[in-house]
Amino acid sequence: MPKVAVLGAAGQIGSPLSLLLKMSPLVTELSLYDIVHAPGVAIDLNHIDTPSKVTGFLPDNDGLKKALAGADIVVISAGIARKPGMTRDDLFKVNAGVIQNLVIEIAKTCPNAFVLIITNPVNSTLPIAVETLKKHNVFNPAKVFGVTTLDVVRASTFVQQVLDLPDPKALKIPVVGGHSGATILPLLSQCVPAVKLTEEKRDAVTYRVQFGGDEIVQAKAGAGSATTCMAYAGFRFVSSILKAMGSESKVIEETYLYLPGVPGGKEIAAELSVDYFAVPVEFGRAGAVKAYPLGPLSGYETKLLKVAVEELKRNVSKGVSFALAGL
Ligand code: LMR
Repeated sequence: MPKVAVLGAAGQIGSPLSLLLKMSPLVTELSLYDIVHAPGVAIDLNHIDTPSKVTGFLPDNDGLKKALAGADIVVISAGIARKPGMTRDDLFKVNAGVIQNLVIEIAKTCPNAFVLIITNPVNSTLPIAVETLKKHNVFNPAKVFGVTTLDVVRASTFVQQVLDLPDPKALKIPVVGGHSGATILPLLSQCVPAVKLTEEKRDAVTYRVQFGGDEIVQAKAGAGSATTCMAYAGFRFVSSILKAMGSESKVIEETYLYLPGVPGGKEIAAELSVDYFAVPVEFGRAGAVKAYPLGPLSGYETKLLKVAVEELKRNVSKGVSFALAGL
């Protein structure tokens, strides 16, 4: 029965994410780790009348190892968040090392677990995780992902708002690329059901999906970035993986991954000439079973794709170089 570990569980994403996981009937055991407060958060959650059992750990007494022991899924939201004026890449200095240290312990303690990375800059932290797992000979490309679900959530929300439609969830819009500014590419032309957007609205929605994170950073005025909507999106992604682990078929979510290791991915990576990209991915019991190509793009999307790929390549190589230098 699934055990989920949340690393960074006492943080502003980790706490609401842990609450959502505690509410989920698909989770049996929840293990929380943070550099402060995790045991308290665990006790707090344990007063909720759902069957799952929550345990909290701090770094002392091998807390990280204990938190990870037997985990089937590890979600990482640890690290620092943006302040106004910062890009996600500005977080690299601090968060790159945080990710690398956590993933080294994952490699030693629960090498078969799914590893889902929320910590920014995701475009670079995922390559760091992949290189670290490779170095420890435990990298399984079907199980290691950057969480880009918030971009998908934003795309349907913002289209619903601009067209004044009743239900954002009724709109399925693939969002591909990375998780930062121009690397985020919402494929509005592939919206199901199809929507009619004027050029002005198409541009405005695309921009909002790409830079939606900034809206929150500015509104919070120094107190951080997206927390509850990110927790919601992270929970949606974990839930999809749990459903697929439980044998639900045709579970598809967009996620940022190392393409060459997943069926269908090598061809996409060759076509885009970048190894990491978010695409629609189908999940089975043991992880990603298929990466789907981008499909037909409009002229507008084709132009944005070029920009996205160029920026993403830089973000990826920054992560890979960091990981290789530190291993
Ligand atoms: C987001 O998309 O809102 C998050 O990645 C947080 C951020 O820094 O924008």
